[in-house]
Amino acid sequence: MALFDALQKLKDTASGPFEQATGSPPELYTSPDMLDLELREIFEREWHCPGLAADIAGPGDYVTFSIAGQPVFSIRQKDGSIRSFSNVCRHRMMQLLEGSGNTRSIVCPYHAWTYGHDGTLRGAPHMEKSKGFSKKDFCLPEVRTEIWNGWIYITLNQDAAPVAELLAPVNDLVAQYRMDKYVPCETQDHVWQTNWKLLTENFMEGYHLPVAHKATVGKWIGLDDTVFPDQPNPHFTWQTFTKGETATYGRAADANDYLEGRWRYTTFMPTVFPAHMYILAPDHVWYLSLRPKGVGQVHVRFGVALAPERLAAFPSKEAALRDLVTFFDHVNEEDRFVVEGIYKGAHGALAQAGPLSFLEREIHDFQKYLAIRLCPEKSGAAKVAAE
Ligand code: FES
Ligand SMILES: [Fe+2]
Repeated sequence: MALFDALQKLKDTASGPFEQATGSPPELYTSPDMLDLELREIFEREWHCPGLAADIAGPGDYVTFSIAGQPVFSIRQKDGSIRSFSNVCRHRMMQLLEGSGNTRSIVCPYHAWTYGHDGTLRGAPHMEKSKGFSKKDFCLPEVRTEIWNGWIYITLNQDAAPVAELLAPVNDLVAQYRMDKYVPCETQDHVWQTNWKLLTENFMEGYHLPVAHKATVGKWIGLDDTVFPDQPNPHFTWQTFTKGETATYGRAADANDYLEGRWRYTTFMPTVFPAHMYILAPDHVWYLSLRPKGVGQVHVRFGVALAPERLAAFPSKEAALRDLVTFFDHVNEEDRFVVEGIYKGAHGALAQAGPLSFLEREIHDFQKYLAIRLCPEKSGAAKVAAE
């Protein structure tokens, strides 16, 4: 099936009733043309999350990321704000920073052009004979940045609506957890052998939890308690579920005096389209932020932060970390197994997706999102990609 036909099929299932929805056609996960279209129509236009504001708490703390192939970094300023910039030197385009850390200034590892935290070029050795050269002409391009409930969001799109506006309908839901006070415990970067959308879809549905995660989180979840929003939203989707008394993680610590009633054991699980998703529980937050690395690979940034009162209940931070990281590594491996397995399965000549369970409602929401951005009526982009 050509990509154009696969997109038509996506549009058909997205515009039909959920009760008749099926999974998406395999070509949407395996076609390099589909990825080109997604990078152009989605990744270059949307907000992306490189991590938690608390990951870069002090002046000069930075974290690197990329948006549709554009290297970027976010850095804490002396005044406490966070700004983001192109991570590409204005001399001969060397990548400036790697990973995360702290720096007094940003020094290019190639010829030592040096930038301030505000992206201005402060030093450029041996440039005095270059006619007309002026440092003020070579600042790093700034990338739009917003902080929302403790998350950093960045976009290359000057025209994108503000995050605070897009996510306003869930602001109160998120804010009640006081997630901006959570303490980051672990961040890891991985590359998984799958298409990015398979991981997004996997995260959104609880249907697989009792099976694929039976050894870990699956046994704690009350699937019958799953709640979805009344109306789908074009920018995100979410569900809430509860965790039982035997759950190791997911319930408010005794010292939590701000969550009440069922919210003390309820988890809020949003996916901010296209690729930021998290599990926000009364005692921890666990997130993924995805970037395609070709059609069959995805960069996965995974992070965990603990509510301060939960952290305080451990004998030591080291003990908390050891316990937590081992546990979530295990959960991630369970997910990696299935999303890499689906990617292999989608290449089969006989591969075809079947109907969805009511627990996969958000996959249908995601299909609607993809159809709006990628299908021909919107921009003609899909047609171009198919030709
Ligand atoms: S490329 Fe950065 S200083 Fe030359
Ligand atoms: Fe999972």
